[in-house]
Amino acid sequence: MCGIVGYAGTSLLAGDDAAASGASARPLEVALGGLKRLEYRGYDSAGVALVGPGSPTAAFAKKAGKLENLVAAVAEQPLPDATAAVGHTRWATHGGPTDVNAHPHLADEGRLAVIHNGIIENFSELRGSLERDGVSFLSDTDTEVAAQLLAREYRTAGDLTAAMAATARQLEGTFTLLAVHADAPETVVGARHDSPLVVGLGEGENFLGSDVAAFVAHTKEALELAQDQIVTITPTSVEVSDFAGNPAEGKRFTVDWDAAAAEKGGFDSFMDKEIHDQPHAVADTLLGRTDSSGRIILDNLRIDESVLRSVDKIIVIACGTAAYAGHVAKYAIEHWCRIPVEVELAHEFRYRDPIVDERTLVVAISQSGETMDTLMAVRHAREQGAKVLAIVNTNGSTIPRESDAVLYTHAGPEIAVASTKAFLAQITAAYILGLYLAQLRGNKFPDEVAQLFDELRDMSRKVQTVIERGEYVRATARSMQAADKVLFLGRHVGYPVAMEGALKLKELAYIHAEGFAAGELKHGPIALIDEGQPVFVVVPSPRGRDQLHSKVVSNIQEIRARGARTLVIAEDGDDVVRQYADEIFWIPQAPSLLQPLLAVVPLQIFAMALAGAKGLDVDQPRNLAKSVTVE
Ligand code: M6R
Repeated sequence: MCGIVGYAGTSLLAGDDAAASGASARPLEVALGGLKRLEYRGYDSAGVALVGPGSPTAAFAKKAGKLENLVAAVAEQPLPDATAAVGHTRWATHGGPTDVNAHPHLADEGRLAVIHNGIIENFSELRGSLERDGVSFLSDTDTEVAAQLLAREYRTAGDLTAAMAATARQLEGTFTLLAVHADAPETVVGARHDSPLVVGLGEGENFLGSDVAAFVAHTKEALELAQDQIVTITPTSVEVSDFAGNPAEGKRFTVDWDAAAAEKGGFDSFMDKEIHDQPHAVADTLLGRTDSSGRIILDNLRIDESVLRSVDKIIVIACGTAAYAGHVAKYAIEHWCRIPVEVELAHEFRYRDPIVDERTLVVAISQSGETMDTLMAVRHAREQGAKVLAIVNTNGSTIPRESDAVLYTHAGPEIAVASTKAFLAQITAAYILGLYLAQLRGNKFPDEVAQLFDELRDMSRKVQTVIERGEYVRATARSMQAADKVLFLGRHVGYPVAMEGALKLKELAYIHAEGFAAGELKHGPIALIDEGQPVFVVVPSPRGRDQLHSKVVSNIQEIRARGARTLVIAEDGDDVVRQYADEIFWIPQAPSLLQPLLAVVPLQIFAMALAGAKGLDVDQPRNLAKSVTVE
């Protein structure tokens, strides 16, 4: 939550039109460009602050609402050329989304500007202490308290880096802070504690960002910071230390995202583009996972094979869409590996005293790698002795850094707040993990693993087919703008798909939607069905096992008899279900366990099209943020 960008660079070094002072328009351009790419992290307000040689104070602009409001304000009242900048896009916690509460917050008579991501839990105590010192506050935010505290420390230390370290030592909660000061016009100082911050390494310029999307258009060379570190960037240097002031080092990595991947590429929305990216997300996540003999190899798995052989329980922890990917993982891993798998929302796991030991493998799934609930659950699991394997999409993020092993998904940057391609990539990664464990523990013969892996490879092509059939889904969605309640049913792996379909509709179209296990219907939810009630039903393959298909067909008949309008996701060639469906969205035939990769796609398209038809912003739904970095 909250997007943060920092930049230090002078025109003399960066080769821009040289001004004698080294100041240029680039710091503002980089800050606004970075904020555009980070806006998915929060869009309650946006602001920038700039410093340059000879400027008596920090120049700044900030506006409530989306970034476009800030851009318009800056166009109307231009900011001066500069050598360093910070920028912020906010998801409000302390204080409403107003101009005054927007970041940056100024202190030291306007010479110091601070931006912040996170929550400072001891802010009211600190505010009291500062007020006793005669400080008065303009905003309701915890950030202004940090700014004033930093100003007080700066007056003592006379050095921004030392002052930041002293400030960080006094703060409780979670924070990434960035500061610029008019006294040090080529410097940005940052501190992180349980909130994300990465460094971008340029030539004659350096960058800071909540994630690499902030600077990937300028450099792919990056530095991962550990917890509780201070970083000071200038155009030519990057220095890292701990909160005690001891020198430290970041971990270098190269970003494998293409800058163009963070653009809309001709689509109306990022979400539409990301739905269309899904065949690649699946294929790329599978790339390089087998050796020449077809055996699955997982390079970043830093957990000893003997430990994985002795695992007697798996617990998947995640939130939101990632948790639904975890539910699919449960069905696949239990079936292939015969290991019990529990799936738990990370925030519930953390606080319920879970039974976890060294024979438990905890699998943390997260697109951003920064979700605070999931991160806290990872820490808790490791404290209890469990090994943690992270399935994460974002390089340089915190969860993989704090886990024992990582299996990266290769979905590329996901900008739309509603997750789509990351979900498919997470499910794909879970299948890879399941097959790897089955291979390692001998639950499947090598040829069985190889065959399943081949079927998995073929899913990318089938996802593409579902996308190509999207127009009928869109037309159906456009005709359903008046719906105020939509239900989703599924069994087995269709159940998490139903829950994900409901979540997409809630978050995008603001329609009340619920996903149910189809078998649970008659235990209560069927009372919701009345004349014309739209109900999506995910139908298992008729070629599958255990009479699943016929059970779901019976459920469809039960709700139809009570007046429901049935919108059915079914496999090509399913002639039985055809007669009970009011609308039918066909998907290619696939092995039962792999069907979620296909069945969810029409539900994503439906939610996006319905929200679009209602004139809603599908990329930035109200009240949400992409990366939930507060508990
Ligand atoms: O970054 P993460 O995968 O950890 O995020 C988890 C959830 O916050 C996320 O999936 C959320 O539910 C999305 N808005 C769903 O579209």
